[in-house]
Amino acid sequence: MVQLGWGRWYSLKELDLATNGFCEDSKIGEGGYGVVFKGFLPDGSVVAVKNLLNNTGQAEKEFRVEVEAIGKVRHKNLVRLLGYCAESCYRMLVYEYVDNGNLEDWLHGFSSQTQAFPWEARMKIALGTAKALTYLHEALEPKVVHRDIKASNILVEGDWNAKISDFGLAKLLGSEKSHVTTRVMGTFGYVAPEYASTGLLNERSDVYSFGVLLMELITGRDPVDYSRPPGEVNLVDWLKVMVANRHSEDVADPRLHVKPTPRILKKALLVAIRCVDPDSLRRPKMGHVVHMLEADELPYRQEKAQSEKRSTFGNSPHHHQAPTKPAPLSRRADGKENEVNGGDKHAIYKQNWKKYEV
Ligand SMILES: Nc1ncnc2c1ncn2[C@@H]1O[C@H](COP(=O)(O)OP(=O)(O)OP(=O)(O)O)[C@@H](O)[C@H]1O
Ligand SMILES: [Mg+2]
Repeated sequence: MVQLGWGRWYSLKELDLATNGFCEDSKIGEGGYGVVFKGFLPDGSVVAVKNLLNNTGQAEKEFRVEVEAIGKVRHKNLVRLLGYCAESCYRMLVYEYVDNGNLEDWLHGFSSQTQAFPWEARMKIALGTAKALTYLHEALEPKVVHRDIKASNILVEGDWNAKISDFGLAKLLGSEKSHVTTRVMGTFGYVAPEYASTGLLNERSDVYSFGVLLMELITGRDPVDYSRPPGEVNLVDWLKVMVANRHSEDVADPRLHVKPTPRILKKALLVAIRCVDPDSLRRPKMGHVVHMLEADELPYRQEKAQSEKRSTFGNSPHHHQAPTKPAPLSRRADGKENEVNGGDKHAIYKQNWKKYEV
């Protein structure tokens, strides 16, 4: 057994024993990357073993380098990668087992029909997910773009702590691989519109997918649901119309036993709408999303307050930085926009907010 700096290497035999021969009963589910099994290790730990599909072309060294890069990444809201197995043509990833299901199940599956899913739990999940994305986008070098943020990739612990799974997988498997191309395309309903036109995905695409996820948490609706009337099939389009027409109080999930106050609901809606801005450059950074979700104020008021503070430095939005110190040109370490860009965008936000003020 080889110990790595961050985790360990598992033998195929060991994982075979842990999952009872990868039997059907141990199978948790199947996604675009492979099949996931629940396993029990001799030390008493419970793990999720992901047997990656189509691994034969993956160069051994490259696989190890990438897995080790992902394995070193630690955050309370990311599923921990414990180690991996690379034997003959098999490539498996071993994760900590997260025991309270995934968000897809809580919103649309069996749990949604049988158990309460309160507003506070939903917002805790949204905040945890936003914090993990902030970490992946803003604290790591090179940054990690998830590329497949969606409800089934958000796992949930008993206290509603969210854990993002499958981060780094798109990179690990290499985007030139055909089976990955479908994964890189993300999941229908969550993909940012610029991907369709440019074929390029960056962290701003994750922000878009997060916005869709937040809308899903608020409304309990699927991102795309053909069983609904034509104007309601696409969740993003429907919600924007509802908010613009001042019907935001009608959009909360009817299954919520206790409805959020109009103000709290409005705040979540405004954050979600900003995240799905069709112009990727106008979407907030994930660090900003965390601040907006944590703040008591409504997001557009925050923007307004910031603008008032900035305007003390000058009259035009282009002159609001302190005159003695030039504005930095790159993103600041705390993830906030640089001053010049922040100012330009602010004007646009303000116009936008007018439309969505409720
Ligand atoms: N660490 C884990 N702990 C518990 N369950 C897990 C874990 N990782 C994955 N699962 C579960 O295994 C199932 C299959 O996951 P998988 O990631 O293969 O598919 P997916 O999330 O539906 O799609 P995608 O391939 O886009 O990620 C899901 O139900 C998921 O909740
Ligand atoms: Mg997954």
